[in-house]
Amino acid sequence: MDKAPVLDDAFLVVKHGKFAAFGRQTPEALAGLHDRFTIGEVFDAQNGVVLPSWCDAHTHTVFAGSREQEFVDRMKGLSYQQIAERGGGILNSADRLRQTSEHDLYVAALERVHDMIRMGTGAIEIKSGYGLDEASELKMLRVIRRLRETLPIPVRSTFLGAHAVPREFKGDRSAYLALLTGNLFPKIASEGLADFCDIFCEQGYFSAEESREYLAAAVRHGMRPKVHAEQLSRSGGIQAGISVGAISVDHLEYASDEDIRSLAASETIPVLLPGAQLFLGLQAPPARRMIAAGNAVALSTDFNPGSSPSGNMNLAVSLASILYKMTPREAIVAATLNAAAAMGVQDTHGSIGIGKAANFIVTKPLDSVEAYPYYFGQPLIRQCFLNGRTLESLGL
Ligand code: NIG
Ligand code: FE
Repeated sequence: MDKAPVLDDAFLVVKHGKFAAFGRQTPEALAGLHDRFTIGEVFDAQNGVVLPSWCDAHTHTVFAGSREQEFVDRMKGLSYQQIAERGGGILNSADRLRQTSEHDLYVAALERVHDMIRMGTGAIEIKSGYGLDEASELKMLRVIRRLRETLPIPVRSTFLGAHAVPREFKGDRSAYLALLTGNLFPKIASEGLADFCDIFCEQGYFSAEESREYLAAAVRHGMRPKVHAEQLSRSGGIQAGISVGAISVDHLEYASDEDIRSLAASETIPVLLPGAQLFLGLQAPPARRMIAAGNAVALSTDFNPGSSPSGNMNLAVSLASILYKMTPREAIVAATLNAAAAMGVQDTHGSIGIGKAANFIVTKPLDSVEAYPYYFGQPLIRQCFLNGRTLESLGL
């Protein structure tokens, strides 16, 4: 990951919305370009850095209302778990989501994704999981489908009905899981509403054994597993995910050395979410040990109203360097190519490669790639392109 190549003084050709050529601006290369292409519009990147757009492989961007009161309660000393035990947390968001129409959810989520696109995001995964009943979970998935139909970036959909046990099923987790597998899985499969199926594997939520069984059933309904794993404690979610061929396991603050070895020997991508880790004041995940073991570590925002109210991938990249000691190049690879793999779009997005979608960021003049994560929180984007078009030309 640290060997990600950087070309100085480079050119980039986009044709029909895809990368068609790139290289160093030598006189021979430029002459060759004029033989191969009819050059139309030219954009001078000046001394900016050109990066592939971010791929955000873990978000809960469809939600209703906000939870800043819980934020204030945490400032006064309550923990995330204590707030959840008092009926706040995910159940608080579920109450609000159930009362919000599909149209209003769509409008609010669209605005959030537009902001993320302006911050350089060029592909996004979005989860359900704030409905927690049949009608409301389907409502969320339909909102995600509508976003997929209207947004200029790829949208991948994840069914996270197993995000928490709703009040109606308090004390009867297995009945709730049976509702999800028996009633919702077939509907989701027949309407093609979800690419992935996720579960919150954690004390007070769902166990590793429940996660494994549930996700194995999801596979039988055509959904590839993901797991919210080892976020607040060592839950066994990583091992459960690997055993069912999960595309990714996410969070991982409490991953053990054995988990890291198992991940490296598997096809499952570890996705780290520094926004949530920082916002909740959790311990850092063992990113350096994961990379040393040969893992393709990915980064995403976890944008959600409870643990990470930020969809800013630039910040996630800077935080990964500051908090996890990932080098800027490692963090950039983690937020682009590796995150693309964590949401199954790596063949078309996540890097500058011939034939891939021309989704890219041009920064303000910078002395090096390293300067980008270094200026954390600074507005360094000069222009974003999606399929070779500026955001202005797309009405964004
Ligand atoms: O990814 N960990 C579980 N789910 C979310 C938080 C959900 C919430 O608090 O609304 C997360 O951190
Ligand atoms: Fe999450």
